[in-house]
Amino acid sequence: MQINRLSSGTEVIDSLLNGGIEHGAITNGYGPPGSGKTNLTLLFTLSGLKEGKVGYIDTENGFSTERFFQIGGTKENLKNILYQNPSSFKEQIKVMHKLKDLDLKLIIVDSMVSLYRLEINKENFTEINKALAKQLAFLSFLAKEKDIPVMITNQVYSVNSDEIELSGRDVVKYWSKCLIELKKVDDNRRLAILRKHRSLPEGKKVEIEITEKGIEKAKFRIF
Ligand SMILES: Nc1ncnc2c1ncn2[C@@H]1O[C@H](COP(=O)(O)OP(=O)(O)OP(=O)(O)O)[C@@H](O)[C@H]1O
Ligand SMILES: [Mg+2]
Repeated sequence: MQINRLSSGTEVIDSLLNGGIEHGAITNGYGPPGSGKTNLTLLFTLSGLKEGKVGYIDTENGFSTERFFQIGGTKENLKNILYQNPSSFKEQIKVMHKLKDLDLKLIIVDSMVSLYRLEINKENFTEINKALAKQLAFLSFLAKEKDIPVMITNQVYSVNSDEIELSGRDVVKYWSKCLIELKKVDDNRRLAILRKHRSLPEGKKVEIEITEKGIEKAKFRIF
């Protein structure tokens, strides 16, 4: 059976994903701060808006309307974004439930784990990790039920993370059917690498640049 895909509207990202992110599954864009995760979600948002409404859960105040307009979004578009801005991990699941009965063509969660990180500690980690798994299971259910793509992001740091977070990381990886790693090469050049996919080889990569208009294939440079 052919799996529907949502285009990024950007040739280089679509070439990495064989057309775009898959309907019915969670795609996860991860990388360090400034690697381009939010930019990627904005590209897919713009593309999803061509089909209908988009649910956008922003846990980090990362959604910049200025940036959205730069890449081609309009004020009219904004009316079709169901923007949610939860301020606690508990509220995050509540806003996800709000999206359940809406006719959406795409759901974004940028980022999946920032509020989780704020709340997890040595006492509550079993419970919080369970709650994280529940949220991901719910997103996966929404993706399947609505037959739409769900895109989540998570920030990774180069320093060793706390051990209690590691099990959470595995949970996110397990529920994500596609993993895209974003890596900074220099000021605006990045690598986007497929780390997991149901039908494409792991390790496939493209070199990209974040530009005024969005994301483009990196230009060849001599030095
Ligand atoms: N108009 C623009 N032209 C070129 N680069 C831009 C432009 N607007 C933003 N950027 C670049 O985009 C990058 C930020 O990307 P983005 O916000 O997607 O990162 P992120 O991975 O979401 O980071 P964080 O983890 O902090 O949320 C910065 O390097 C910034 O300079
Ligand atoms: Mg971001």
